[in-house]
Amino acid sequence: MALIDFGGVLEEVVTSAEFSVGKAKSILKDETIAVLGYGVQGPGQALNLRDNGINVIVGQREESNSWERAKADGFIPGKTLFPLEEAARRGTIIQLLLSDAGQVKAWPEIKKCLDRGDALCFSHGFAIVYKDQTGIIPPEDVDVILAAPKGSGRTVRTNFLNGSGINASFAVHQDYTGRAKERILALGIAIGSGYLFHTTFEKEVYSDLTGERGVLMGCLAGVMEAQYNLLRNHGHSPSEAFNETVEELTQSLIRLVAENGMDWMFSNCSTTAQRGALDWAPKFRDAVSPVFDNLYQSVISGKETERVLDANSASDYREKLQKELDEIRNSEMWKAGAAVRSLRPENRK
Ligand SMILES: NC(=O)c1ccc[n+]([C@@H]2O[C@H](COP(=O)([O-])OP(=O)(O)OC[C@H]3O[C@@H](n4cnc5c(N)ncnc54)[C@H](OP(=O)(O)O)[C@@H]3O)[C@@H](O)[C@H]2O)c1
Repeated sequence: MALIDFGGVLEEVVTSAEFSVGKAKSILKDETIAVLGYGVQGPGQALNLRDNGINVIVGQREESNSWERAKADGFIPGKTLFPLEEAARRGTIIQLLLSDAGQVKAWPEIKKCLDRGDALCFSHGFAIVYKDQTGIIPPEDVDVILAAPKGSGRTVRTNFLNGSGINASFAVHQDYTGRAKERILALGIAIGSGYLFHTTFEKEVYSDLTGERGVLMGCLAGVMEAQYNLLRNHGHSPSEAFNETVEELTQSLIRLVAENGMDWMFSNCSTTAQRGALDWAPKFRDAVSPVFDNLYQSVISGKETERVLDANSASDYREKLQKELDEIRNSEMWKAGAAVRSLRPENRK
């Protein structure tokens, strides 16, 4: 473990440099990792495990596009690709990478397939922390562990292929075998994490649900739309409103923030932009703080997860979702976005 100073707070971080893939392989040498679910995280984690030489099988319901994708990725029916229950029976570490709502539906069957000493591994604290809603209460004689990549399953794979790795958090909820921690560290490294940060199931799910509803997606989408609408209402053209709201952010400024931090970005823009942004930042912080308070309360009270489980269990969920997404794509703002993107050199015919 490396002790790293995060702004005056020391945190333990496990790195792939000190906890090598070789070490992970020797810890996992007698294990069969059953990755249940071949949606977004499933392929990223399963393919990385396979490429790292770990014994991995995939569990996926049949007659599904995901089953076909697993086959196309080289998992062989009857050998390394099985229906969910069969894979769960064969696995010693069962990685539940079904959608969170899918985990709730499949749990009664999967539970029956667990043997004493198995490990149940999650990539989200959802199922365990909100057990009153999910009904997912593991038996006492298994390890319950978590490795949660901080990014899309697609990035889990692309970062593995380009050698950069992805940050992930890890946690132990239940240690039956006494090996839960070494199992999760080995698994975390083997699925392609470069850095593993310690957390608990509660902290992971509260921060994750807040982050995606907040700055990462919900808040970002909301404030972009508010600024775009403001500019359009004051007579600015769609291209101008879009460029000043989204394009400059995604193509330039946020990259500078990623490389060197916020102060560096402020010190590398015009003094006009710098002065105004520094003055306005606290006003936005104070304006949205009550919304964030509201959001966090809604997360810890279980309102957010209740909403997710209700919505996802509706039979017409996918159709309704597609309608919502189409509305966004067909809005003036995002049509303007498509037009602006088409003018980028790499997209010009
Ligand atoms: N998405 C991410 O990048 C990400 C990032 C970090 C953590 N996580 C966590 O990782 C886990 C997996 O997330 P994900 O986004 O990869 O999930 P996802 O893509 O939504 O999962 C889809 C998988 O679940 C299966 N499934 C859904 N409903 C089912 C049901 N009722 N019965 C059986 N199988 C069902 C799907 O099978 P079909 O294709 O046949 O429907 C597919 O294999 C979740 O706990 C999530 O919170 C995800």
